[in-house]
Amino acid sequence: MPTAIDVSGTAGLVAVGVFTAQILLGLLLSVGYNPIRRWPRVRGLKLFTFHNWLGYIGLGLAFVHPTILLASSTAGFRLFDVVVPIWSPTQPVPTTLGAVAFYLVAFVVATSYFREAFGRRRWKTLHYTAYAAAAVFFVHGVWADPLLKNRPPDFIDAEKVYVEGCALVVALATYARFKARRGPRGHLA
Ligand code: HEM
Repeated sequence: MPTAIDVSGTAGLVAVGVFTAQILLGLLLSVGYNPIRRWPRVRGLKLFTFHNWLGYIGLGLAFVHPTILLASSTAGFRLFDVVVPIWSPTQPVPTTLGAVAFYLVAFVVATSYFREAFGRRRWKTLHYTAYAAAAVFFVHGVWADPLLKNRPPDFIDAEKVYVEGCALVVALATYARFKARRGPRGHLA
């Protein structure tokens, strides 16, 4: 029977995968990639719709991930430790980074929901917060101990290799996106 700590960790790992996919789709959107004219040449495939929904799903998972700890008798987390983990019972620094990442992602999703009120240019500038969020949640994902026992990270553990792989893919794709930029609006011809 998995414990609340196991379920919490799994939700966090799934959230990392969802955000990785979402950032990759965001990068494709920002260079004007057209999946109808190019691979996979499928009509009606809307990158924007996928990107948008992954935002809500990822944010939901990132919310569930620490909240589940409240159901654990061994984790020792109270509601306050989930919202502001500076004094959390274990690993206050990586846990606080996780909370910061959640608030940054919530900011990106909320500003996107109201993006018409900001206007495109200002919204787009705010949307770059997504890169800061990614940097913080990747560090949190590698550093945090899945058993909440304050152990140092094991960088070659399968779960950590998965998070490191996602971080590497996002870093390489971000580099490619900024290299591929053409014209003042950053769209490919
Ligand atoms: C759920 C609401 C969201 C909406 C409606 C949305 C919408 C968009 C749109 C329209 C673009 C393309 C911008 C362009 O044309 O240049 C974009 C790009 C992007 N999005 Fe989102 N997004 C959302 C959430 C997120 C979240 C939560 C993340 C990351 C955690 C994210 C990461 C990105 C990234 C990395 C880009 C590429 C930015 C660039 O370098 O130009 N988005 N998003």
